[in-house]
Amino acid sequence: MPRPETAALISKYPARPFSYRRRTLHCDRTSLTALAAEHGTPLYVYSERHILGRLRLFQSAFAAVPHTVCFAVKANSSLALLKLLAAHRAGFDIVSGGELARVLRAARPAAKRTVFAGVGKQAPEIDAALSAGILLFNVESDSELDLIAARAQRAGIPARIALRVNPDVFASTHPYISTGLSAHKFGIDILAALALYRRAARSRWLIPTGISVHIGSQIREVEPFGAALARVRELIVQLKSDGVNLTHIDAGGGLGVEYEDLAFDPATAVRGYAAQILAATEGLGLHLLLEPGRFLVAQAGALLTTVLNVKQNGAKKFLITDAGMNDLIRPALYQAHHQILPVKQPAATQSNAPVDIVGPVCESGDFFARDRAFPAVKAGDLLAILDAGAYGMSLTSNYNTRPRPAEVLVTGAGHRLIRRRETHKDLFAPELP
Ligand code: LLP
Repeated sequence: MPRPETAALISKYPARPFSYRRRTLHCDRTSLTALAAEHGTPLYVYSERHILGRLRLFQSAFAAVPHTVCFAVKANSSLALLKLLAAHRAGFDIVSGGELARVLRAARPAAKRTVFAGVGKQAPEIDAALSAGILLFNVESDSELDLIAARAQRAGIPARIALRVNPDVFASTHPYISTGLSAHKFGIDILAALALYRRAARSRWLIPTGISVHIGSQIREVEPFGAALARVRELIVQLKSDGVNLTHIDAGGGLGVEYEDLAFDPATAVRGYAAQILAATEGLGLHLLLEPGRFLVAQAGALLTTVLNVKQNGAKKFLITDAGMNDLIRPALYQAHHQILPVKQPAATQSNAPVDIVGPVCESGDFFARDRAFPAVKAGDLLAILDAGAYGMSLTSNYNTRPRPAEVLVTGAGHRLIRRRETHKDLFAPELP
C-alpha cells in the first residue's frame, strides 16, 4: 500500500531544519540546489542550528540535576560535529580506540567528559583511554574488569569504572538495536553486579565510580527507561550499604525520533524521557550521564541525491539515484523508513504514484523506499532523504568501490564543507598490489 504523504505536508514540519522556500527545499536558509551544484551528490547536509537546538533541549530537560550529555559518537563521528558539540559542553560516549582518537582530535579537553563502552575493548584501546584521562569505563564483563585492572596497574593510572548492568527490561524497537534483555550480549547480569563491584572495590587499580544501563536504540515509549533505572536504583542502595559509594549514574542513550509521524514534537519527547529518568534517580545525589546519539543529530541531516534514471519494469516504476545502500544503509539493514522529498517542490495539483527509490548498487536490498507514493520526477532531479543525520554517514562503506559522500554543515554564516568527497586514490591508498 502506498503511504499517503505529500511534500506539501512536510513543508511546515517543525522537527526538521528542512523546508520549502520559493519552491526549493532548503536547509535553514541554504538552498539544497545550490549545495548540490557546489559540492555534487550524494551529499550529506546538516544544520548546525538544529543540532545545537537539540543539545540545548536535552541539557535544559535535565537542568535541575548535575548532568553531562555524552553524545554517542557512533551516531555521527564527523570531527566538525564533535567539535561543535564539545564547544557546547557535551561529553562523549565512545566504543573504540578510533572514536577516542576522534574525540581527542576534535576536542582534547572533552576526554574528561568521555565514557568508554563496548563489549570487546582491547588492551591498546584501554591504554589510550587511561592516558587520555577519560571520565570512566563502562565495563561489560568480569574478564574485561580484570583486563582494565591489569592495564591500569601497568600504566600506574587507576581506572574509574562503571558496570554496565543488563536490567532485563524489554523496550520495543527493531530487534537489531535492542540491548536490554539478558538474551543480548550487552551488560552484566544485574544479580552478578554486586559481587563484581565488591571485587572492584578491593582492587588498588579500580575506582568504582558509576553504574550504567542502556536498553536499546530508537525507543519511543519512555516507561522502559524508568523501569531500567528503577532496577539500577535498588543496586545503588545495596552498594551504599556495602560501603561502595558511587558518584555517577549513566542512563545510556536510545531516545527515539519519529521518522514517519509528522506531528512529532521533540520537546515533548525529551521532557517525557527526562521525567522518567529524574523520577527514578531522585534523591540519589549522583551525577547523571546521558548518551543520546540519534535524538541529537538524526533530524538535522539529509542525504541529497540525484535521480539518474526513471525506469519502468512491468507494473513497477523505479527511481534510480546516485546514492546507494553504501551511502545510507538503514532502509536495507533495518527496513527503516525515511521521508524522501523532491528538492523542487511539486505543484499542489500534482498527484502521487507509487515508486521504488533505489540505488545503483548490485543488490536487490539497495533501496531507500518501496511502493512510496511520490510525485513525478525526471532524471537529473534532486531528492533529499530526510532524517539521515544519525547512523547515515557513520555506517557508510566503500561497497562496489564507491567513494563515500561529502558532508556539508549549514551554519548561521552560510555553509562549509566538513568532509570532502572521497576519491579513487583515497580508496586504493591502503592496498599493496
Ligand atoms: N549508548 C550505548 C551504549 C549505545 O550502544 C548506543 C547505541 C547509544 C548510547 C546511542 O543510542 P541512540 O541515542 O543513538 O539511540 N545503527 C542503528 C542504531 C544502533 C545503536 C547502537 N547503540 C540505527 O541506525 O538505527
